Amino acid sequence: MSEQKKWKVAIIGCGSFAGHQYLPDIVKVKGAQLVATCDIQPERAKAYAERAGIGQWYTSIDELLAKCDFDILMDATSIPAHHEINMKALAAGKHVFTQKPAAPTVELVTRQMALAEKMHLKMNAAPVHAMRHSNRKARQMIRDGVIGKVTTIRCQVAHGGPEYFQYRENDPSWFYEPGSGALYDMGVHGLHYVTDIMGPAKAVGVMAACSLPQRTVRTGAFDGKRIQSDLLPDNYIITLDFGNGAIGEVYTGFCQRATKMPTMEVYGDWGTISFVSDPGEVRPHLEVYYDKPGNGIAGWMRPRDLLEREKPYCDTFCLQDLIDSIEKDRPPVLSMARHRHIVDIMETIPKAIESGKVLPLHTSFSEEDTCRE
Ligand SMILES: NC(=O)c1ccc[n+]([C@@H]2O[C@H](COP(=O)([O-])OP(=O)(O)OC[C@H]3O[C@@H](n4cnc5c(N)ncnc54)[C@H](O)[C@@H]3O)[C@@H](O)[C@H]2O)c1
Repeated sequence: MSEQKKWKVAIIGCGSFAGHQYLPDIVKVKGAQLVATCDIQPERAKAYAERAGIGQWYTSIDELLAKCDFDILMDATSIPAHHEINMKALAAGKHVFTQKPAAPTVELVTRQMALAEKMHLKMNAAPVHAMRHSNRKARQMIRDGVIGKVTTIRCQVAHGGPEYFQYRENDPSWFYEPGSGALYDMGVHGLHYVTDIMGPAKAVGVMAACSLPQRTVRTGAFDGKRIQSDLLPDNYIITLDFGNGAIGEVYTGFCQRATKMPTMEVYGDWGTISFVSDPGEVRPHLEVYYDKPGNGIAGWMRPRDLLEREKPYCDTFCLQDLIDSIEKDRPPVLSMARHRHIVDIMETIPKAIESGKVLPLHTSFSEEDTCRE
């Protein structure tokens, strides 16, 4: 039996997320072999390479591309760095997974997509929620008509701010600077969740505020540092029109210390699908309210195959998605067309705030460009 090809992977951005997620879990990805790390802070690149037991570490994308032989770049740098790094990697013939957002505008994401296509390369983007069993199962139940006609989706993905609970060695101030912010860091999750279930949206409206204009770091190496956080909103209620009588809302931002509300609920005329997170558990499971007329039963229940724990799952499966899309020559689940639509919503939101109007969206994604396995 022939051995599976090993795809050589380099990680750029040796920060909090790469350290907690990608470094420990990359061994779980079939066909992946980490060969190099890279960060503009040399000590971080070196430390991550040592943790991974590999010899190669670099201090810039240019040095990495010039000196290292690899196939796939995982871009986990801070948000403003993504576009330039992704473009350089694609131009050098590397497949790319990018942390979100790939770029702040539809125009720049489109440039990355066009370059990937021209170079015959695959590219995908965080977040990963569409790959979760709970999302796939909910989509299947909706397709099968379990809750009837879907009318409404409500989602909340928020936390207390990157300075609040996420232990990090790096100064979290950059999250509050223009080009980053709560919408691009957190809103992207909620928008990914709802558009995965409902498909692309047609229009967006929003209520937003800068609710906490000063913050104090509560964990990590910068514990106690004061941050001026008044340049961007940190608190959003986003409303979406999906057409065909279906609407949705996303609560997101950096103003939620804790919650007991479900991550997401989908309402149909025969019932409800609720994405419930148990305390301390970030991965939601499904509970379904079922009341189809004529069946003589009504009530809450759990889908049978979700009575067991969700199958082993980690954020690094974004890399599995990319490798599968290369090997099977299919679009990724976490496709760039899906991602560009979410960037479209995020790029339109400041204009909706400014004008106080619901504004139309101009991008979409479909079954052809986004694998729905
Ligand atoms: N998917 C998720 O659930 C999730 C969760 C947290 C963070 N993130 C995302 O991950 C990314 C990184 O976040 P983080 O929390 O790890 O931030 P961080 O500040 O801890 O790490 C970012 C790292 O990128 C490095 N970097 C910045 N510019 C660079 C460049 N030009 N070249 C090389 N390295 C560079 C920094 O030195 C730093 O080490 C962000 O896009 C963030 O939105 C995703």
